[in-house]
Amino acid sequence: MQIKIFENYEEMSVAAADALLALLAREAAPLLGLATGSTPIAMYQELIRRRDEIENLKYVKTVNLDEYLGLPADHPQSYRYFMQEQLFKCLGLAPGQSHFPHADSLDPKEAEAAAEAYEAQLLELGPQTVQILGLGENGHIGFNEPADVFIPATHVVDLAEGTIQANSRFFASREEVPRQAITMGIAGIMRAREVFLLVSGEKKADALARALYGPISPQLPASILQLHPKLTVFCDRAAAELLNPAQ
Ligand code: GLP
Repeated sequence: MQIKIFENYEEMSVAAADALLALLAREAAPLLGLATGSTPIAMYQELIRRRDEIENLKYVKTVNLDEYLGLPADHPQSYRYFMQEQLFKCLGLAPGQSHFPHADSLDPKEAEAAAEAYEAQLLELGPQTVQILGLGENGHIGFNEPADVFIPATHVVDLAEGTIQANSRFFASREEVPRQAITMGIAGIMRAREVFLLVSGEKKADALARALYGPISPQLPASILQLHPKLTVFCDRAAAELLNPAQ
C-alpha cells in the first residue's frame, strides 16, 4: 500500500490525474473503473484539461462502480448522467465505450437480473487496469455498505441511512434519494490490477484510518483494500489527520 498525502484537495486531484495519465499511456486498451461522488471531480477536470495527452482515447473503455436503482439514465442524479456531464462528453467518449449497471427498474427480479448482467459484462471486459474509488463516511466503497459479510459479485443493495443522508445534498429533498442501488461487489473491485483510493476532508478521516489500519471487516467495507496488492491512497491533510503510519 502506498499512501500519498497532499496539502489540499486540488494537489491531491492533480497527482491522481498524473498517475492515471501515466497508466493510460502504458496500456494500449485500458479499462478504467470509475467512481462518482464529489471526490473525483477535480481529478476528472484535470484529465479533461489534459485530454490531448491521452493518445489511445478511442480504445479506452470504462466501467462504473454503481448506479441508483429506479432513476432513469437521463435523470440528473443518475450516475450515468453524472459521468456523461463530468467526464465522458468532455473527453468525447462514444456511448459504447462506457458501461453501467442498468438500474432503471425497481422491480426486484429485473433489478437482480440487471446486477447479474453487469457482473457478466465486467467478467467479459476483463480486470480493470485501475479502479478509482472514493470513500463513504461509513467506509463504503462503491455502494458496498457495512454488512455482516463481504458480497463478492455485483448486487442490489439497500442504502444505509447515513448514505441516504449524506447523498441527500445532491437531491431537492431527502425523500427523493433512492433507497437502493446496484453496486459492483467486493470481488469486482479487488480484481482491478491497481486501485486508487481518493479521500478528501476531515469527515472521512475516521473511516480512512480504520480502513487502512483497523481490522479487515465487512462492517467497514474499505478495509478489504488492505489486501489489495497494488493500492495507492491519495488523500489530503484533513483526511489523513488520524493516520498513524506506525500502526
Ligand atoms: C457515494 C458513491 C461512492 C462515493 C461515495 C463518497 O455514495 N456511491 O462511490 O465514493 O459516496 O462520495 P463523495 O466523494 O461525494 O464524498
